[in-house]
Amino acid sequence: MCGIVGYIGNRDCTDVLLDTLSKLEYRGYDSAGIAVFEKGSIKVKKSKGKLVNLVKKMDVEGRPSGHCGIGHTRWATHGEPSDINSHPHGNRRISIVHNGIIENYKELKELLKKEGYAFESETDTEVLAKLIDYYYNGDPVDTLINTLAHIDGSYGVGIVFRDFPDHIYAMRKDSPLILGTGENENFIASDIASILKYTRDYYLIEHGEICDITQNEIKVFDTHKNIIEKELHTATWDVDAAEKGGYEHFMLKEIHEQPSAVKLTLSPRIKNSLPDLSESGLTAEKLGSYENIYIIACGTAMHAAMVGKYVIEKLARVSVTVDIASEFRYRDPLINPTDLFIAISQSGETADTKAALHLAKDRGADTLAIVNVVGSSIAREADMVLYTNAGPEISVASTKAYSVQLAAMYLLAVELANVKKRITSEECAKLTENLLELPSLIEKCLETKEMCQLTASKLVNANSLLYIGRGLDYALSMEGSLKLKEISYIHSESYAAGELKHGTISLITDNMPVVAVATQRALIEKTVSNIEEVKARGAMVVLVCGESLEIEDKIVDYVIRLPETNEMFMPSLAAIPLQLIAYYTSVLKGNDVDQPRNLAKSVTVE
Ligand code: F6R
Repeated sequence: MCGIVGYIGNRDCTDVLLDTLSKLEYRGYDSAGIAVFEKGSIKVKKSKGKLVNLVKKMDVEGRPSGHCGIGHTRWATHGEPSDINSHPHGNRRISIVHNGIIENYKELKELLKKEGYAFESETDTEVLAKLIDYYYNGDPVDTLINTLAHIDGSYGVGIVFRDFPDHIYAMRKDSPLILGTGENENFIASDIASILKYTRDYYLIEHGEICDITQNEIKVFDTHKNIIEKELHTATWDVDAAEKGGYEHFMLKEIHEQPSAVKLTLSPRIKNSLPDLSESGLTAEKLGSYENIYIIACGTAMHAAMVGKYVIEKLARVSVTVDIASEFRYRDPLINPTDLFIAISQSGETADTKAALHLAKDRGADTLAIVNVVGSSIAREADMVLYTNAGPEISVASTKAYSVQLAAMYLLAVELANVKKRITSEECAKLTENLLELPSLIEKCLETKEMCQLTASKLVNANSLLYIGRGLDYALSMEGSLKLKEISYIHSESYAAGELKHGTISLITDNMPVVAVATQRALIEKTVSNIEEVKARGAMVVLVCGESLEIEDKIVDYVIRLPETNEMFMPSLAAIPLQLIAYYTSVLKGNDVDQPRNLAKSVTVE
């Protein structure tokens, strides 16, 4: 999704904008642009494609030189990726960068046309820019307050006015935007990771707030122009967290960060052999009172929720409904005040998950956010929050965020089982001991790297694949399949192994490899029968299983063996080779691993 930055200070503004925009590349984008004050006028440079195109363009046309400006990476929504549709938009008096969607832009455009405004792009952002220009009365804050009253939709906006060359203005509703503050310099940015090199200190902007930023001062106003006192936050993330640190891709780095990320999520929440989620606001009393649990998320986070459902139902015997956020919000769900609603999200900004959270709140349910990005919208809007401590995830394909989401699911399941007295204190202690061993076992799973590389070389020419498993292995295979397709562009589907013979098995030929996951003892014989069925029909079979499984060589082609633990936690181990297989397949295909086509890291539009 779009990325926004803004800088005012003593450094060369173009350098800072390009550097910080490069840290937002992971969000996914198809054009980029900047607007910089140079000798009293606003110089705009923008280009379709990656930042490198913008740099090349400036090499030819000249690079704006100044100390105050705004920048943008655009992920096209209204209008194709093109130079004209790229941000910044505006005119000689004003320039803006915008993330989000102005829903009533068509009516506003008609109104502005009648007032004599002409439009060159197809974007809703140009309409917003010209609306601000229309209301401009010489006082930027008044102007923005007036403008806000006329727009519907979501926005994070950075604005510069020609008449105020030492100021950046910003406002937000439902789209991420923060204010970074350093020594003699200030920033706006879509996330803190993009400006970590310059500062760790930042303010969060709430919905409807308007910010006036100069080199040494930040003022935030409400819509009545009252000044709002803001709390200063300091990021704990390491500067290196947003760098590749010697790895070829962020994805590979993040796969390797999983042992430490899982440790950071689990260890502080296990005390005296008991899970302790009280810091999130989830007291034992509350937990014991819920009749049903709803877990809502999108994509990989939804797959973590699926694992959560199996584990919570098995351990705590509480009914769990998992929903895709975009489905939940439109199906008039039966959620009510005695239920617990959980939203899982790495970014904490996913529009559908956020909308589902609002719906659950309206229905009176208690809401818990399991979120990675501190201070993100979902984290702030839920009643309770459990942060997953993975550090910034830059690669579009989620890996470490999935692992920490699984860890959060396990903690919740064990805590709930304990509170509901479904397990004895000895069983609880054993489970927490198993959890604390996970980081070192995940480390061991990384040793399957070479086998995964070999497997990838056998899968790379396939047109389509099936991932199969039963129970928790099925839940995990959904994630394995998503990982492969999103970065290798090879079609794949995950299937409950027992369901194959009800239709899908007709697809099996020697041209349809099958990745089978078999870590659940009670289901292994059944899964092995399904493997035999696909093998008999010519499929090449890759099996991911525990090290003790005895299996005849002739029914599988490649076996990836994993250390074993309590089988409820095996998804955390089996996820590693599935991620590595996807990674190496994408590398072999020469794809852009970290920024796969058409995808955005944080999906802030519906
Ligand atoms: C896939 C992936 C996506 C995200 C999904 C939700 O690798 O990363 O499927 O999981 O877009 O994003 P968050 O977790 O930020 O809500």
